[in-house]
Amino acid sequence: MTTPDDDASNDQDGNGAVPPAVTEVDAGDRGRFRAGELALFLDRKGRTYQETLNPGGEFHCHLGWLPHDDVIGQSVGGWYTTSRGHVMLGIRPTLGDYVRLMPRGPQVIYAKDLGNIVSMADIFPGAMVVEAGFGSGALTTALLRAVGPMGRVHSYEINEAVVNKALSNVRSVIPDTSRHEVTVGDIFDGISDTDVDRVILDLPEPWHAVDAAANALVTGGILLSFLPTVLQVQEVVLALNNDGRFARVETAETLLRGWNVSRRSVRPAHRMVAHSGFITTAVRCVPPGREGYASRP
Ligand SMILES: C[S@@+](CC[C@H](N)C(=O)[O-])C[C@H]1O[C@@H](n2cnc3c(N)ncnc32)[C@H](O)[C@@H]1O
Repeated sequence: MTTPDDDASNDQDGNGAVPPAVTEVDAGDRGRFRAGELALFLDRKGRTYQETLNPGGEFHCHLGWLPHDDVIGQSVGGWYTTSRGHVMLGIRPTLGDYVRLMPRGPQVIYAKDLGNIVSMADIFPGAMVVEAGFGSGALTTALLRAVGPMGRVHSYEINEAVVNKALSNVRSVIPDTSRHEVTVGDIFDGISDTDVDRVILDLPEPWHAVDAAANALVTGGILLSFLPTVLQVQEVVLALNNDGRFARVETAETLLRGWNVSRRSVRPAHRMVAHSGFITTAVRCVPPGREGYASRP
């Protein structure tokens, strides 16, 4: 039995088993559901239900049930009728859908911020990225996608208890995790990599990692910190400025408002997630003075 989207206890039971891939689809197969991949069913009220499609399996919800075999091999974007005659749209979950519905550990970063983190940190194909903490693996998944098959992501996580679920979440989207490394440990103790392109910090006291990040980053590399409160932002900005090896320190947040559009009215959605966190970025530079700069930009 699956549950609507306001219940995170979907088909991923978090029992340590590695769920199958949802995004890496064979080129010739893109328009059809494959055995082992995730489907997202939408009912006529727009409620969403996430389900892993397995031969012989059944999708159950309060609107009836549907054999997986009736979906596997059929169209993504097709319409599927349950045993009780309810028609549901079957599509593939986006990364944003998956993050919203995946098994939870520590607080995840949602699609609203994932996109801006990837673009404001300028994560590029082939990049070497260090992040902390691993948490539930949501940000890691977005980073792995952005660095692509030639890039690498090294995740630091101090709490070993969250790692298995996070790994399972990542593998649901990125089955080949050979370019992902996890270190169980405190990033404040240092970063083992050098010539790192990007350091992404989603943890409570990132100012303690500024020195380690500066040592690991290549000059021109970018540090990004995601923080929920302005007091934390101020602390990390002061630490970045005091370190002397960072410039272009900037902070922003993302406000995302949905709109309801129909023939009779066009208006903003009543509800929006206004605040989630602040994004602070800084560029690792040659310390001012050595290259003749009088003051930092
Ligand atoms: C908000 S969660 C990260 C969520 C993750 N970015 C995601 O999207 O799923 C913060 C994580 O940082 C970890 N953490 C806190 N301090 C740390 C440290 N000094 N070194 C490594 N990990 C740390 C916590 O255990 C927690 O799992």
